Amino acid sequence: MPRSLSLVGLGPAASTSSASQSPVGLPLNLRASGNAHRFPSLKSTSVRFSPTLCSIKSVPNQERPSSTRWSLNGKTALVTGGTRGIGHAIVEELAGLGATVHTCARNESELNMCLRDWEDEGFRVSGSVCDVSCRDQREELMVTVSSVFNGDLNILINNVGTNIRKPMVDFTAGEFDKLFATNFESVFHMSQLAYPLLKASGAGSVVFTSSVSGFVSLKSMSVHGATKGAINQLTKNLACEWAKDNIRSNAVAPWYIRTSMVEQVLSNKEYLEEVYSRTPLGRLGDPTEVSSLVAFLCLPASSYITGQIICVDGGMSINGFYPRHD
Ligand SMILES: NC(=O)c1ccc[n+]([C@@H]2O[C@H](COP(=O)([O-])OP(=O)(O)OC[C@H]3O[C@@H](n4cnc5c(N)ncnc54)[C@H](OP(=O)(O)O)[C@@H]3O)[C@@H](O)[C@H]2O)c1
Repeated sequence: MPRSLSLVGLGPAASTSSASQSPVGLPLNLRASGNAHRFPSLKSTSVRFSPTLCSIKSVPNQERPSSTRWSLNGKTALVTGGTRGIGHAIVEELAGLGATVHTCARNESELNMCLRDWEDEGFRVSGSVCDVSCRDQREELMVTVSSVFNGDLNILINNVGTNIRKPMVDFTAGEFDKLFATNFESVFHMSQLAYPLLKASGAGSVVFTSSVSGFVSLKSMSVHGATKGAINQLTKNLACEWAKDNIRSNAVAPWYIRTSMVEQVLSNKEYLEEVYSRTPLGRLGDPTEVSSLVAFLCLPASSYITGQIICVDGGMSINGFYPRHD
């Protein structure tokens, strides 16, 4: 069972919180700041009439000052896998833009360390220990999130994913199940669980962390690619299915980003050179180069973007044949 941690890291606005505070104590702080900065529901501003066309749907953001279009003040976010790599950068990006964030990971001491650092930086972040590949732990996590955010959630970042590299004929049934449970079943179910909360927020945004492996063939990554391809299609389906609830759904698809997940494979110098040679920008990506796009997709400024899968790949996925030394 996942354990909700002491919810530290809430920054100056919650300075009365103690390290031993339970999740139940948290919503009071969050409610105070969250509701004060709620964006008006898009539904209330979306329809206009003209004499020539019977109905034209307007773009709500045109009526908003840039201070609200480019801010996440008052928004609530769940980011899975926020203690390292891309998820860690996403937590900081969203919190830096004013969101109150809940995150999760399996390693409790690493999570506690991150929460302490974020508190020192003044970010409003809480966390739970949770293995998102387990159904009951996902359910427990969402109960906590609902309690922490008082029943509504603006942003769901389905970030956790893992990899097993090997030729497809060598995959055991257990390895196949593990990859699909962690990479796809988890995000499918998390989205289902989050739906009522996203809907209740009046303006929801789901962002999936996909991969270029969902677009192009990568060596030893046939199962990983299939999980990410499934995510890409789910992104499009949710965009249509949940549009009526003003919930957007998008995905980011990175190529090699310098994180703990790819440390080992990139420690091979020859392999790294191959990676550089296939990447027009000639380098690896940084987690912050993914988190900036994720944040944009959550901002009111991107309110007309839904159902998109955007590569963050230094040009790798559009590279046909451009020899490096010509
Ligand atoms: N790095 C790349 O080059 C790259 C490229 C394309 C796509 N991606 C995608 O980007 C996402 C993040 O990758 P990353 O490179 O940032 O990974 P990472 O550095 O390994 O970080 C993974 C994070 O997720 C947590 N996590 C892993 N498994 C979990 C589970 N079952 N339940 C809960 N938390 C879990 C980890 O903490 P614990 O270990 O404590 O649980 C950690 O906080 C993945 O979906 C990956 O497929 C990465």
